[in-house]
Amino acid sequence: MLAIIGGTGLTEMDGLDVISHQKVDTQWGDPSAEIITGSIGGKHVLFLARHGHPHRIPPHKVNYRANIQALKNAGATAIIAVNAVGGIHPDCEPAGLMIPDQIVDYTWGREHTFFADDLDHVVHIDFSWPYDEPLRQRLVNKAKALQLDIMARGVYGATQGPRLETAGEIQRMLRDGCDIVGMTGMPEAALAREVELPYACIALVVNMAAGLTDEIITMAEIEAALHQGMGKVLSLLTESIADYPA
Ligand code: HPA
Repeated sequence: MLAIIGGTGLTEMDGLDVISHQKVDTQWGDPSAEIITGSIGGKHVLFLARHGHPHRIPPHKVNYRANIQALKNAGATAIIAVNAVGGIHPDCEPAGLMIPDQIVDYTWGREHTFFADDLDHVVHIDFSWPYDEPLRQRLVNKAKALQLDIMARGVYGATQGPRLETAGEIQRMLRDGCDIVGMTGMPEAALAREVELPYACIALVVNMAAGLTDEIITMAEIEAALHQGMGKVLSLLTESIADYPA
């Protein structure tokens, strides 16, 4: 069953017929919220609000291990993550979508692996291509079918937050090859790989990153772009769930 992790602006999924709420606890602690099982167009799907419901857990405090483990325990077979991001690549624009294919991780101090304690042997997962390519292609093809103007690949730079970046940090990220910047892409993607759950991301650009325009970044502009872009995210999700193999 496909699972959706909703980020900022997607605490609830419109169009989802809720079947049940389950409180799942894991050996890593509590996930951000109850896991919702619902149906869209007759297809069952799991939904988890990354920042809790209501939205109250900042990016660096999310228990990513509990979230991924809880979805795995609830029967998820793949995850589509939705993340609000800042745009770095000049083709980004607020309310635009990207399906990234790479990650650069700048986060620190987060519990970022299941393979830390009580190990029989040391585990190093392959993470050359952090997103699952078939799942990514499914999203890209669905976006094309919906005539959504998306960026079909790009590099997600994951920062620690909760503050936004300095202009200098964004210039460094640009030199590093980052196309978008967000605070929640990692360690989520790596943890999904550790438990062998195919994982892909729909990134919604909600502002241009720090220092790339003459203006400072305001919550008002972020909220306006979230509002403007979330409809596209929801149609892309709905289409992608519709013919996902049961
Ligand atoms: N930086 C980091 N995370 C973000 C941003 C940003 O500019 N916008 C939305 N999430």
